[in-house]
Order: sequence, then C-alpha cells, then structure tokens
Amino acid sequence: MAKLCVNIDHVATVRQARRITEPDPVAAAVIAELAGADGITCHLREDRRHIQDSDVWRLREVVKTRLNLEMAAVDEMLEIAEKVRPYMVMFVPERRQEITTEGGLDVAGNLDRIRDATKRMQEAGMLVSHFIDPETRQIEAVKKCGADFLELHTGAYANACGEEARLVELKKLIDGASYAQKLGMRVNAGHGLNLRNVLPVAAIDGIRELHIGHSIVAHAVLVGFERAVREMVEAIARADMLARKYSPEEILRYFSA
Ligand code: PXP
Repeated sequence: MAKLCVNIDHVATVRQARRITEPDPVAAAVIAELAGADGITCHLREDRRHIQDSDVWRLREVVKTRLNLEMAAVDEMLEIAEKVRPYMVMFVPERRQEITTEGGLDVAGNLDRIRDATKRMQEAGMLVSHFIDPETRQIEAVKKCGADFLELHTGAYANACGEEARLVELKKLIDGASYAQKLGMRVNAGHGLNLRNVLPVAAIDGIRELHIGHSIVAHAVLVGFERAVREMVEAIARADMLARKYSPEEILRYFSA
C-alpha cells in the first residue's frame, strides 16, 4: 500500500496571510502523524512565501516519521539541506511567478547540474527524489543522476477534464511507473491529488509514496486536520483493496467520482 506524506505548506500559507504565528505548520505535522501520515513534506521556496527557515528547523526537531524537504537544486537550498539534514530532499522546479509547482523538473536538460546536486545531498546522508513529468527521457535522466526516488507529477492527470482525458493522463503515469521500475527505480507520485482522484493513482503497481498537500489542508479547514488526514489514509487503503481486483483504469471508471 502506498504511504502518505502530508505536505503542510498551505498551513503556513494561511499564517503568512497575516504574518503572525497561527496556524502553526508544526502543530499540523504532529496532528497528521497522529492521524496516520507516514511522513511530512514541506517546500522551502526561494521567495519564502509559505514555509520559513525556522519552520524547517522546528519540523526537524518534532517530526517523528520522516521529514522530506522540497526545494530547488540551487546553492542556497543545498547549503540549508546540508545543515538541516531531512530524511529526503525532493528537487522541484521553481519559478517565482507561479502559483504552485507547474511542471516537472527538466532533469534531462540540466543533467550535469542536477547529478552534481544529487551526489552532494547523498554524500551528506540524505535520500534524493526528482519530481518529473511521466516522460521516458526524464525517467532515463533521473536514472543517470542516480537519484533514490523519482516522483511522477500527477498535475496533468488531476487537471484533465472528463473521463477520457483523465484516462489518457492516467495511462502516462502507469507507463512511467512501470518503465521506471524496470530500470530499477523507486517511484512516488503527487500534485493535485484529492479524495476523489487519488484512488486510481494509489492503485498503480509499485507506487511507494503519495505526496499530498493542498486538498488535505483545504478539507481540514472544513472538517479538521485530523479527520482530513485520516480520510486520505482511508482512501489510499481503499485503493489498495480495489487494486487486488481492478486495474487503475477500471477504478477510475467505476469508483473515482
Ligand atoms: N509533490 C511535489 C513535488 C510538489 O511540489 C507538491 C506541491 O508542493 C506536491 C507533491 C503536493 O501537491 P498538492 O499540494 O497539489 O497536493
């Protein structure tokens, strides 16, 4: 069954709207763990729009499962990661004007730089993941860099309109996960997943971790953080049950609203 890593960035987004101390993403991380999360993820952006440096340090102290640090593969962030030493560093692309991480990282187009950054993090004792679109050349590039994990960007799937378009995007994720595993890589997935669209992705063979943030925080505003995380854990468990009998495509057609 896929593990759930809860991204708590948007708890900090609400706090930063007023530049005060509440709500505290560290408190959210503790509740997420109590509700069954297998890991906590945060993204320290270069513009510090939500998570702050002090949050990362406090999370490092408090998180009892695993702390994953999403960041751009740039010197400033590599230095911070070497000091904080999270369980896993997740390289993502970053553009200042974007609302959220828009596409996957272009590992193939920046091979030397990303390979060096990957080695540097691994030598400092951290696992490394690359966040990429489900494309053959990017998967092969991640392999060349020697990253420990790749994370398939599920945004195109999540944003696809209508069942047929969603099936097309789901197929790319299935094929990407299968190819990456054939090359001996470990595969995670995330972005834009929610209680409705998570089932087919969680049912893809071999997916190890799902990294989910916005929909959990959005749901938590209405039903509470503990319940929002628990419902996602239950959805992933349901996908695991369904996958014993149905393909991800069938799950999309019959069980995913
Ligand atoms: N995985 C990665 C690499 C991301 O950058 C993000 C967004 O920060 C997520 C997963 C989670 O996406 P969402 O907030 O849409 O669930």
